[in-house]
Amino acid sequence: MSNPSNEYERIWQSSMDDRDQFWLDAASQIDWITRPQIGWDEQKNCWFPDGQLNSCYNAVDRHVAAGRGEQIALIYESSATGHRAEFTYQELLERVARTAGMMAATGVQKGDRVVIYMPMIPETVFAMLACARIGAIHSVVFGGFAPTELAKRIDDAEPKLLLTASGGMEGQKIIEYKPIVDQAIALAEYEIPSVILFDRSILDIELDGPGYLDWQQQYELAEPTECVTVHSSDPLYILYTSGTTGIPKGVVRDNGGHAVALHWTMQSIYGLKPGETYWAASDVGWVVGHSYIVYAPLFAGASTILFEGKPIGTPDAGEFWRVMERNNVTVFFTAPTAIRAIRKEDSNGALLPESRLPDLRAIFLAGERADPDTIYWLEDLLDRQVIDHWWQTELGWPAVATCLGLGDTRRRAGSAGFPVPGHHFRILNEAGQPVEEASSGNITIATPLPPGCYQSLWNNQPEFEKAFANYPGHYETGDSGYRDKDGFLHIMGRTDDIINVAGHRLSTGQMEGLLAEVDGVAECAVIGAQDTLKGTIPMAFVVAGASADLENLDRQCIAKVRAELGAVAALKTIHQVQALPKTRSGKILRSSLRAIVNGQRMTMPNTIENPEALKTIATQFAYSFTL
Ligand code: COA
Ligand code: AMP
Repeated sequence: MSNPSNEYERIWQSSMDDRDQFWLDAASQIDWITRPQIGWDEQKNCWFPDGQLNSCYNAVDRHVAAGRGEQIALIYESSATGHRAEFTYQELLERVARTAGMMAATGVQKGDRVVIYMPMIPETVFAMLACARIGAIHSVVFGGFAPTELAKRIDDAEPKLLLTASGGMEGQKIIEYKPIVDQAIALAEYEIPSVILFDRSILDIELDGPGYLDWQQQYELAEPTECVTVHSSDPLYILYTSGTTGIPKGVVRDNGGHAVALHWTMQSIYGLKPGETYWAASDVGWVVGHSYIVYAPLFAGASTILFEGKPIGTPDAGEFWRVMERNNVTVFFTAPTAIRAIRKEDSNGALLPESRLPDLRAIFLAGERADPDTIYWLEDLLDRQVIDHWWQTELGWPAVATCLGLGDTRRRAGSAGFPVPGHHFRILNEAGQPVEEASSGNITIATPLPPGCYQSLWNNQPEFEKAFANYPGHYETGDSGYRDKDGFLHIMGRTDDIINVAGHRLSTGQMEGLLAEVDGVAECAVIGAQDTLKGTIPMAFVVAGASADLENLDRQCIAKVRAELGAVAALKTIHQVQALPKTRSGKILRSSLRAIVNGQRMTMPNTIENPEALKTIATQFAYSFTL
């Protein structure tokens, strides 16, 4: 029998040997208005510089044109409200074309930005695709962010239009969006010309304060609009993500490279065929939602599910399985946290349907490290392949995976798999030299990055260039890890202050900045502590100043981060300490705090200025230093 990995290896090699031809071949699978003849353009720093297309056409119209208008494109499953709806490609086309008309009527044109602060409802998907249709650049903001964060994004993107809704469901809770939007608009310096609000009657929310344009009315008045032509390198969207400072990084995604790469992944990584059902249980506010709820499944002519609910509590830990059964899901994608949450509530799988999900072929996990224990549990429960794969908002699609669609099935729990074609990984030490096999180092990817990866940061070229500065010719992922003797890549964690809490990307540096503003906080450090459910949770160490209200300080710190960053930050633990451990040059020893909290082996650092401070904290956590 042939080695199942051969096809994968052959294809990976061809993506290296003839990079441009490889991606031009992939490009032939989507519809172009002007088909590109050029792959990577070093001068212009973009893929397919001569290509012209429309991303919405590729996601919607072309399937209708190909006679597949009656196939289901979008399935809306709201376990939170008990509502379910299906839209065929033909229906999706009608909704999107009219939503595009509604937006155009407010003056939005090609190149204008549209901020979308909306819950997990079909109108959100219509709006994203409608932006693509008229060449506007959408910027979707995750609902769990506070008004201050929304305001920052408004000021940076300077949108012509903001789209929102009366509210969303967060588990069983109703989250009112309008007060958040009102506040963000008041906080922002930039004045948005138009705001359209979708009133979800099902939530029965009383709308107070300033009035906005009514979505339903505007939609009724609107004329359907056709797709405009955009250059391959024109931006499709800006997605803000946590950087190492309090200023979010606006990752810019192009149209052409994105469509080519995402379409290619559906077949090659996930092994999905047109007409099958793909479900990414994420949120459209994150990159997973952009790529794998909205664009990729639709580019591929699959049916995609938009799920408004939680893995548990809406109503129980069996809901994921029921949604999969009801919709014949073939490939499922979620974060390990969601599986851990289900396991906690239903460890024996009593809620698994009797059918045992016959259509389900594989489950893919990403967003945070998938711990082997969770993978084994899920594999035992479902008797299906569970595949960890790795990527980032900047990259837009998986860079390390087991490419099921290329016939590879090799997996090793604890590893995210192998480099996906198009990616040449090098693991480098601080001096920029490759580390030895099985030694840990900085994970980098040789440039140019393949199509679909970011080519700039909105209004922030210096920050973009930083990611390519430390290791010339390479993109620095910010993750560390190693390659084992069999070529499996193991991702160990971030080298900067970014943490992933329940698969949500957050910056501890940003939380420290906020805590430092709390009255009575003299100094602080926030680190990521291991958590059996969320993978990592933030934990703060705070030194109180003379003016501190000691009894209320913890509460004030938690409230500050929640109010300014958002509930999603989930900072719930504050430790008041006498002093923070520091080096002789005054740097806080966060890595030592992390080691103590997470019970990792450590000797007393020889650079420490104040060993007593670290010893006191160690005692508090019953931690013993390695001698
Ligand atoms: N809008 C408003 N608030 C939100 C929100 C949203 N879209 N998403 C999360 N929040 C709030 C939550 O309500 C919670 O608030 P609380 O402190 O008042 O309870 C807080 O942010 C933290 O949310 P979360 O981290 O999701 O924790 P949880 O305890 O509510 O739920 C899980 C736990 C495991 C069920 C949940 O984390 C989960 O579903 N994880 C899967 C993650 C995932 O799919 N990530 C996608 C990345 S690929
Ligand atoms: P985001 O940009 O939100 O997708 O977060 C990207 C970061 O999440 C990566 O840089 C990793 O640190 C982490 N991450 C994503 N997927 C994985 C994975 N499969 N294993 C380990 N870490 C992951």
